[in-house]
Amino acid sequence: MQIITVNVNKGGAGKTTFTHNFAEYLRKNYRVLVLDFDDSANLTSRYGQFHDLHHTIIELFDHGVVEPIAISKNLDLIAGHREVELLKERVQSKRRREYLFGKWLAQNIQELQSKYDYILIDTENDEGILTQNAIITSDLVVGIAEPHKDNVTALANLRSFVNDLNADFDMNTQLVFVANKINRSKDNSKELLKSLSKFTEYAGYLPDRTLIADDVAIFNKKVVSKKNAQDVEHVSELFEVIRKKVEGEV
Ligand SMILES: Nc1ncnc2c1ncn2[C@@H]1O[C@H](COP(=O)(O)OP(=O)(O)O)[C@@H](O)[C@H]1O
Ligand SMILES: [Mg+2]
Repeated sequence: MQIITVNVNKGGAGKTTFTHNFAEYLRKNYRVLVLDFDDSANLTSRYGQFHDLHHTIIELFDHGVVEPIAISKNLDLIAGHREVELLKERVQSKRRREYLFGKWLAQNIQELQSKYDYILIDTENDEGILTQNAIITSDLVVGIAEPHKDNVTALANLRSFVNDLNADFDMNTQLVFVANKINRSKDNSKELLKSLSKFTEYAGYLPDRTLIADDVAIFNKKVVSKKNAQDVEHVSELFEVIRKKVEGEV
């Protein structure tokens, strides 16, 4: 079982879109548990409305007990909730607050390993306590940038953040970078790709497509055109590179 966190301290870069599509890619062949650590709960709302706290990260962090929701074949969700904002304040005053998620994992490791191949965590644009909990336990962090000013800086900051956490908590979390919303004929996309290609962490890009900017994952749509099919192929290849990376196969 491998744990992957998607984070960058930049709103709108595509974390939730990436997490959702990656989860839907993985579940074709693997068993996946998705967690939504963002108080805006955007990822959760792509799967439905869940108000019962027993299915949310609030119960996980407050009491160490949670019931994942069976969403579809091979995919379970531990939901986000708008009250996560308050949860973050409570967590701040707890002892070993960076380890609460790690503790839950350790206490449930046998069951989790028997049920899931991958755990995917969507986070918010911060370096806050829930994000720290996610990164500390992860095998891999995926950082995303879109072709806007400051997005490359945000990835460099993410690298420092992961390095600091690795040093402080004696971890060896790996990092990959993904460019998002790429239109190869536009200058800002070309600039982003040029900057990112210098980073050893760079894994590839997602194209700028209305097909991707949608609550339905790219793999769950009726593919109508040859261009759409090419996009699905391209995105699948990127996801497979990242999957192999976390498995240590590349
Ligand atoms: N590859 C893409 N092509 C087109 N639109 C995208 C793409 N990726 C994300 N978007 C759109 O960009 C916006 C921000 O994406 P989101 O995943 O919510 O970012 P984040 O979670 O980092 O805040 C959303 O409206 C989403 O639909
Ligand atoms: Mg998001």
